[in-house]
Amino acid sequence: MSDVLTKARSEPGAAGRVRFYGVHHLALNTDDMKMTVDFYVDVLGMRLVHAMKVPPGLGSGPGNRGNPPFEEIRHYFFDMGRDGLLAFFEMPKGAKQRGDRNALGAMQHVSFAVSPESQQRICERLKAAKVPFDGPLEILPGIFSIYVFDPNDIRLEFSCQPSNGEGEPLIVPQVTQTKDEALAELKTLAGDKAWLDKATAGLPD
Ligand SMILES: [Fe+2]
Repeated sequence: MSDVLTKARSEPGAAGRVRFYGVHHLALNTDDMKMTVDFYVDVLGMRLVHAMKVPPGLGSGPGNRGNPPFEEIRHYFFDMGRDGLLAFFEMPKGAKQRGDRNALGAMQHVSFAVSPESQQRICERLKAAKVPFDGPLEILPGIFSIYVFDPNDIRLEFSCQPSNGEGEPLIVPQVTQTKDEALAELKTLAGDKAWLDKATAGLPD
C-alpha cells in the first residue's frame, strides 16, 4: 500500500471526504465505428460530441499506458447524460476476438439512467429499427429496466423510476439499504464484527 493511501486510511478526517461525481467516461471497444455511430446516434438518440484518433506513439512502444495496442485508432465520444461520456475505440478489423462479458474483470453490462418517457421512446426506436429487447422488468424495488445488445454485442440496460416522474432520477437513495438490511447479506461474506461495522459505516440505521 502506498504511503499516501496508508495515511488517508489511518487519518480519515485529515484527508477529507472523497467525492465521486459519477462516471467521467466509460471506454468500450468496437471494430466498426460507423456501425457504432449509427446505433448510438440513429437508433438510441445519443449525441456524438467528440471524434478523434488516438495520438501517435500511444498504441505501441513505451507511450502505451494501457490503451489499445494499435496506432492512431479512432476514439469517439458520446454524451451519456449527467455530464458523462460514453467512449469507443475502434480496433482494426480481425485484430481482436469478441469478448466474454462474463469473464473476470470484464464489463457484464452498463445501465443508462433514463426517464420513463425516454425509456418508452427507446423501446419505440428499437422496435422501428427491428432491434430485439427485453422488458421493462422491475430489477430493484421501484426501478424498471429494458435490456438490449448493441451491434458490438455489448449488453445495455436502460433503467427508469416511474415514481420519480419525468425529472432526473435519484438512483442511489432509491436503493440505499439500512445497516440491518445490508448486514443480512454481508454476514454471509464475513463474520468479523469490525469489518462489518466498517463496511456498513455509510448506511443509515
Ligand atoms: Fe443492471
